[in-house]
Amino acid sequence: LPNPSTYFSSNLVSSPLPTNSFFQNFALQNGTQAEYIHPYLIKTSNFSLSASCPLLLFTTAVLYQTFVADITISSTQTTSQNHVISSYSDLGVTLDIPSSNLRGSPYITASVTKPTSLSITTVRSIVSLCSNNKENTKYTLKLNNTQTWLIYTSSPIYLNHDAASNITSKHFLQCCLFPTSRVWQFSTSSALVTRSLSGNATLVKPFRVTYEWQKKGPGFLLTLAHPLHVKLLQYKKNHRMIVLRDFKYRSIDGDLVGVVGDSWLLKTDTIPVTWHSNKGVEKESHDEIVSALSKDVEALSSSPIATESSYYYGKLIGRAARLALIAEEVSSPNVIPTIQKFLKDSIEPWLDGTFQGNGFLYENKWGGLVTKQGSTDSGADFGFGVYNDHHYHLGYFLYGIAVLAKVDLQWGQKYKPQVYSLVSDFMNSGQKYNSHYPRLRCFDLYKLHSWTSGVTEFTDGRNQESTSEAVNAYYSAALVGLAYDDSNLVATGSTLLALEILAAQTWWHVKAEGNLYEEEFAKENKIVDALWANKRDSALWWAPATCRECRLGIEVLPLSPVTETLFYDADYVKELVEWTMPSLTSEGWKGMTYALQGIYDKETVLQNIRMLTGFDDGNSFTNLLWWIHSR
Ligand SMILES: *[C@@H]1O[C@H](CO)[C@@H](O)[C@H](O)[C@H]1NC(C)=O
Ligand SMILES: *[C@@H]1O[C@H](CO)[C@@H](O)[C@H](O)[C@H]1NC(C)=O
Ligand SMILES: *[C@@H]1O[C@H](CO)[C@@H](O)[C@H](O)[C@H]1NC(C)=O
Ligand SMILES: *[C@@H]1O[C@H](CO)[C@@H](O)[C@H](O)[C@H]1NC(C)=O
Ligand SMILES: *[C@@H]1O[C@H](CO)[C@@H](O)[C@H](O)[C@H]1NC(C)=O
Repeated sequence: LPNPSTYFSSNLVSSPLPTNSFFQNFALQNGTQAEYIHPYLIKTSNFSLSASCPLLLFTTAVLYQTFVADITISSTQTTSQNHVISSYSDLGVTLDIPSSNLRGSPYITASVTKPTSLSITTVRSIVSLCSNNKENTKYTLKLNNTQTWLIYTSSPIYLNHDAASNITSKHFLQCCLFPTSRVWQFSTSSALVTRSLSGNATLVKPFRVTYEWQKKGPGFLLTLAHPLHVKLLQYKKNHRMIVLRDFKYRSIDGDLVGVVGDSWLLKTDTIPVTWHSNKGVEKESHDEIVSALSKDVEALSSSPIATESSYYYGKLIGRAARLALIAEEVSSPNVIPTIQKFLKDSIEPWLDGTFQGNGFLYENKWGGLVTKQGSTDSGADFGFGVYNDHHYHLGYFLYGIAVLAKVDLQWGQKYKPQVYSLVSDFMNSGQKYNSHYPRLRCFDLYKLHSWTSGVTEFTDGRNQESTSEAVNAYYSAALVGLAYDDSNLVATGSTLLALEILAAQTWWHVKAEGNLYEEEFAKENKIVDALWANKRDSALWWAPATCRECRLGIEVLPLSPVTETLFYDADYVKELVEWTMPSLTSEGWKGMTYALQGIYDKETVLQNIRMLTGFDDGNSFTNLLWWIHSR
């Protein structure tokens, strides 16, 4: 694990630290890789901060944005000390270079804390630089790539053509790219625009998120909303907010539009979190399911889990737990004790530390769980030891745990502290930072979905591949809440679940109509798999773009009642299945493709799944039959 004290100020390192944050690259390696902090790509060095209004490039296989230092604010006194993250919140980060960045803010704010000589430079050519007011507190800088930047300062500065100036202590400087050719009149005469350096997102009520910014200045705050924000933004009574739909920045995530207002309310539809299928299983199909169920349950007792990998182990626990819930649905409670024993025998060793091959440990550097194997090998357990994939692996464990705690209340009480540790590792939602785990390890409250990549530096920023496994994590956490009668946990789990589903539908599911991507890319790709902060890739980490069944499968598994909500749109499902069909070869992936086909063509699919000779390791014949018969 990298040492966080290089980049986090000493008052921060004593608390658990974020491992998938929007400024993660600033805290890794040399701290010099860019981060996409909407709407700019930002790079920092020991004495400068550069912003790029990125150009979006695309081919049929990939969409990406490139960094060019359109504008650089630097201190002319170079230092050999690196930048330090001195504070951060859900919506902002402050780097002591000194400078500060706010997410979704058109303004980059630099606060000068001691007399310094600052310069503003660009790799472009300067076409013109002029002062807009007689006070010399606002300048317009035109570059030869058609960009126009505005520079505001809290006291007069004298920028010459080299745009270098000395700025005395306690002053602010702000840069803002003029987004469109249209003339926007804001804050023309006054010096600084209303600004904010930090902001919190709060999950106060189920299915609602509020953003509140700490504001300085007399006016209203201007920030930017991405397409999912725009869908969810609510107008509140007595609360002033205006969406400026033609105040636009282009982005890989779709157009970012201006929102004027000091706080936002985002609201999603309610999503059912239930143990069983929403509509129930057809009565006539019970016999077929019960017969498959008894075979699958019988096989459990003869084959204990052989893998030591936290991922594959978790999937097998989740698979067994599905059998117990299906048994409840088809009124076959006689098989439940066998499943209960299997779950108990396989889960307990991970919770009490008696599993020989692996287990969960607490590590103090960043503050969180790692696996035993991951603690000595950054490649083990898909990088769980360097904070990759936490919600995926823990989600599977929590699914099994929720079901076991449901059928065995006593067991649930006995292991409650361990269970809540697994939940808190990735889902500590407290506004106050829990003493053991950082706030929401994977979920990004601005982007509104999770990231998996942990503390590894990447040129394209963070990434997440499987949205369905992320959905499973929040669904499972909500089920743990149901099992423990913990309404707060149910509320947080369901809210994050609803957002993760909407984000998957917005950025991963590429519908023929109304998707956000360039036509060339959208025609070739019905689904995005590797979604990076700054790139959309058609290739998977572990398979080429041509393996369409892999690409579909990894966005569907594990098949459970919540899959219905994730894939509610039958028209899109049909497009996706038809795009995938020609490449079907493996039995396991066929099961996932047929599961989706079952949403609109149940009869054909029943014939197909009865012929299957194998299933994905997290799936079973029983589970597939249950799914098809509950469509
Ligand atoms: C960090 O910087 C050093 C010196 O400039 C360079 O040699 C090294 O390759 C950089 N490391 C990474 C991971 O970028
Ligand atoms: C930045 O500061 C770090 C830490 O002092 C130092 O190792 C590194 O060489 C500096 N980089 C540059 C480009 O000056
Ligand atoms: C703008 O200026 C830069 C630096 O002089 C030059 O490399 C680039 O080609 C110019 N771009 C345009 C569009 O003129
Ligand atoms: C800024 O201050 C330094 C040191 O006092 C001086 O050498 C430099 O000429 C000044 N630069 C400008 C643009 O005024
Ligand atoms: C956000 O939360 C942190 C931690 O609780 C707090 O210190 C900060 O003041 C809050 N900021 C805003 C704008 O509410």
